[in-house]
Amino acid sequence: MYKIAVFVSGRGSNLKAILNSIAKSKTKIEVVCVISDKIECSAFEIANKYKIPTYSVSQSENEFYVSYNEIISILKEFGTDLIVLAGFLKKIPDTLIDSFEKKIINIHPALLPSFGGKGMYGLNVHKAVFEKSAQVSGATIHFVDKIYDNGKIIAQESININGVNSPEEIAKKVLKIEHKLLPKIIFKFSENKVVEKNNRIYVF
Ligand code: GRF
Repeated sequence: MYKIAVFVSGRGSNLKAILNSIAKSKTKIEVVCVISDKIECSAFEIANKYKIPTYSVSQSENEFYVSYNEIISILKEFGTDLIVLAGFLKKIPDTLIDSFEKKIINIHPALLPSFGGKGMYGLNVHKAVFEKSAQVSGATIHFVDKIYDNGKIIAQESININGVNSPEEIAKKVLKIEHKLLPKIIFKFSENKVVEKNNRIYVF
């Protein structure tokens, strides 16, 4: 069984897309836990429906949150093969990145390396794309390193946005791509088909 942990911050539509794709396929992938920087969020409700354990994580441990050190132990106990950031808005601490080197991926709702970096999340990204009058946008899946949206790109899919009238319209179009691209790449990881060669990432 290939084991993934999914980090979320809110709605959880990407989490849902992952779970639906797993359910429909014969792939041996298990979502072992869902982790959020929130105490409550709709993504947790989705996890609960699937009886997937949830954890709220924070830099400072208190009665509601577990610490990142504890999360690292939990992820290791589950035997996590891949950590998927699916709409997780907080920066991942270096300790977690060091513990899961090249095993953390993120989905970004634009074509990196443009429209990324600190503050570039959610609708902010689509507003920036709209205001720049970019004619294409899309989704990027990349490895997570210690700098925001900086790790090597694994996969991208673009979409023509020259007729759109609002950032919200871009968000809708990009989200459709995300829901297909993220499960697809997770499946590729589970089949060992994501390979680094010549300083580039190849997905076979
Ligand atoms: C997605 O657009 C994701 O790319 C971005 O935040 C959004 C999360 O949506 N980082 P959801 O929680 O998966 O519905």
